[in-house]
This record gives sequence, structure tokens and C-alpha cells, in this order.
Amino acid sequence: MIAIASDHAGYPLKQVIIEHLKGQNVAFKDFGTDSEASCDYAIFAQRACNAVVSGECERAILCCGTGVGISIAANKVRGIRCVCCSDPYSAAMGRRHNDANALAMGARVVGTELGLMIVDSFLGASFEGERHARRVGQIMAIERGESLE
Ligand code: RB5
Repeated sequence: MIAIASDHAGYPLKQVIIEHLKGQNVAFKDFGTDSEASCDYAIFAQRACNAVVSGECERAILCCGTGVGISIAANKVRGIRCVCCSDPYSAAMGRRHNDANALAMGARVVGTELGLMIVDSFLGASFEGERHARRVGQIMAIERGESLE
């Protein structure tokens, strides 16, 4: 199950992604927003990311105008590793090396076709573990307030 959410600026891209996921028979849950009426991205980031942390959803896809605000908000949720991407390579490597469990994109940055390529790269890649697991472990230690040195 994929959690998907956006603010008003990301709403058009979110709707395109939803149709794309439907076409691929990928299960998703839409955490809003429901229109292009102005709203606050942190609320929607938190809703979708809580569903990932609880185990209800495996990953989150988040859209705002730049992808920046909603990714910053997502990364404040404990257990979330959100990558803000405008290219497919970073999205895939975010999965392979960083075990990213959330993807953020800017609807005002990427077009719909590029956005869908980024989504497919993110969903199609798997974490490689090994030395990367140690590094992701360090990231999570920082989140717990532990010193790495
Ligand atoms: C909304 O205008 C815009 O600020 C928001 O979507 C996002 O780009 C913030 O980072």
C-alpha cells in the first residue's frame, strides 16, 4: 500500500500519480488534499508518513510546489527517510542506498511525465543493505539523539 498526499500546489501531480498507480494496479491510500484550495503541506505530510511508520503503508509519495516543504515536514516524522527528487536516478538511489521510505516531488519543478518516471524509479528499486545499512543506522541514531562519535 502506497500512501499519497499533497498540498494544493502538488494536487494536480498527485492526481496524475493516482491514475498512474491505478493503471499499474498498485494499491494506494490518498491522504489528501482534495482540491487546489490553499492548505498547509505539513498536515498532509504527517498524515501520510504516520501511515508509513504505523505499517499501514509501505512508502509515501508526497507532492507540494517544490517538494521541499513537504519533504522537510516528512523528515520530522520519526522513522521517515524522505528524499526530495527531480530526477529518476536520485529516486532509485534513495531506495537502494538510503532505504528511503518516502518520496517528495515538486509539481512546479517536474512535469507530469518526468514525475511519473521518478515514481516508477522509486517504487521499482530496493534497498541494497550491507554498508548502506550501517549508514542508514547512523542516520537513525542521529534521530534518536545519539552521538556518532
Ligand atoms: C505553496 O505555495 C508552496 O509554498 C508549497 O507547495 C511548497 O512548495 C513549499 O515548500
